[in-house]
Amino acid sequence: MKIAVLVSGGGTNLQAIIDAVASGKITNTEIALVISNKESAFALERAKNAGIEGKYISPKQFADKEEYSKAMIDTIKGAGCDLVVLAGFLVVLPASFVSAFENKIINIHPSLIPSFCGDGFYGLKVHEAALARGVKVTGATVHYVDAGTDTGPIIGQKAVYIEDGDTPEILQKRVMEQAEWIILPKAIDDIANGRI
Ligand code: GRF
Repeated sequence: MKIAVLVSGGGTNLQAIIDAVASGKITNTEIALVISNKESAFALERAKNAGIEGKYISPKQFADKEEYSKAMIDTIKGAGCDLVVLAGFLVVLPASFVSAFENKIINIHPSLIPSFCGDGFYGLKVHEAALARGVKVTGATVHYVDAGTDTGPIIGQKAVYIEDGDTPEILQKRVMEQAEWIILPKAIDDIANGRI
């Protein structure tokens, strides 16, 4: 299975996928392409270091979202990718993109959906909201992407306990290490091996 990984930032989830393919935790899978909407995203550096083709494609380069969507679809299909993985990707993709890859797009969200998700809930904001609400348990979710934001069918989840003194940054790191970097590679391996 060939996958395209879409990124916007540090790329620690991309790195977890790269490492899992290298170690054999993910089988039947080749990371064919990494696309970032941010030219300076360290995730592109991670792709380069792993010998994976990285591209900078941003909505800013196009007249409108539909032109951007078409360029992204052509690039991903052109590379022969069967699965699109959103790993810390912050662009809301239009319906035309989602329907071009029906049930072939997965996303990692840093909370236990349906909590702390939807418009405006991304990055540190998710953890700030969890701490503000005073929940004792949070975690991460891998789900299929549909036309909504964080609303598609859930594939996997992993819980993480909140600890005394947690700041949003400390909590984000724990959720990444103990949940995101585990359930995203597992979901890819399960899909690549027909278990989902
Ligand atoms: C992090 O907030 C992570 O929780 C979420 O996207 C952000 C960046 O992740 N999934 P990454 O380091 O770029 O993978």
